[in-house]
Amino acid sequence: MCNTLKNLQGRSLLTWLDYSASEIRALLELARNVKHEKHQQKQRFAGISIALLFEKRSTRTRCAFETAVGEEGGHPVFLSNDDIQLGAKETIEDTARVLGRMFSAIEFRGFKQSTAEALAAYSGVPVYNGLTDLYHPTQALADVMTLEEEFGDMCGKKLCFVGDGRNNVARSLIVMAAKLGINITVVCPPELQPGAEFLAQCAELFAASGAVCEISHDTTAVCGADAIYTDVWASMGEEAQKTERVRLLAPYQVNRRLFEQADNKSCVFLHCLPAVRGEEVTKDIIDGPQSRVWDEAENRKHTIKAIILATLGLI
Ligand code: CP
Ligand code: NVA
Repeated sequence: MCNTLKNLQGRSLLTWLDYSASEIRALLELARNVKHEKHQQKQRFAGISIALLFEKRSTRTRCAFETAVGEEGGHPVFLSNDDIQLGAKETIEDTARVLGRMFSAIEFRGFKQSTAEALAAYSGVPVYNGLTDLYHPTQALADVMTLEEEFGDMCGKKLCFVGDGRNNVARSLIVMAAKLGINITVVCPPELQPGAEFLAQCAELFAASGAVCEISHDTTAVCGADAIYTDVWASMGEEAQKTERVRLLAPYQVNRRLFEQADNKSCVFLHCLPAVRGEEVTKDIIDGPQSRVWDEAENRKHTIKAIILATLGLI
């Protein structure tokens, strides 16, 4: 594992598309170790400052970065749109150059994937995508960690994403499934299915890992699911489309009936959170015995810490 992790020094995490399966597996192993030793006092981030750029709100991602870094002696600096000039009175490239002179790494949450890419290209330090409109890669690592805690190796298991199949969370899960050989079924209305170009890009990865990616508009496709995952119907920035989303996605609510269609007593429920009970998921499911959402939320911290440790060469 150590050599694989050492190769990650200096790397950004923007999508997972440029990470190999063995690199992702090494990060998962490191995250498990980090979780195991979470009560030990370590100071691995002493002398390290990390900029946390947020154009959109966050509870889990911000808190995971702040606590992971701060508890080990590092200095996380939260910078919202109200604080800095990112793309407003200063170009993204210039902000990136300046932050790169002052920080060891940068986290970015915002709208455009191109902003995360520009920060990575011009800062000279690792950049972590904390969510854009296209991807949510740190979330997907925590999701797989949570699934592996439940099932061991997920290779050959069936993960179903039910809901807005073209959103950032769905896309990152598809990439992760393709890389790690997890069978994924996206159950969504035709209007909200992953784009053809993106699926074509992933098809090569699925062929290499031997897993299958199925897109279905019929909820009976969840039959045999080991895990059912959903996300909000309108992502941040899409609030104006809420009425239309409710109309399109109401038949895809994750509820008791959907779990009966899965027909697997071991099937677990995941959600990146925040959740809207009564919309994408019913209360009995998210608060019930099959839900693993709180483990999943905690694992955001361990996986993010693993990513920072490896990419800053601190292991
Ligand atoms: N899942 C997730 O990214 O949560 P936050 O929006 O609270 O960071
Ligand atoms: N798809 C959601 C994820 C939130 C963590 C959004 O972008 O708002």
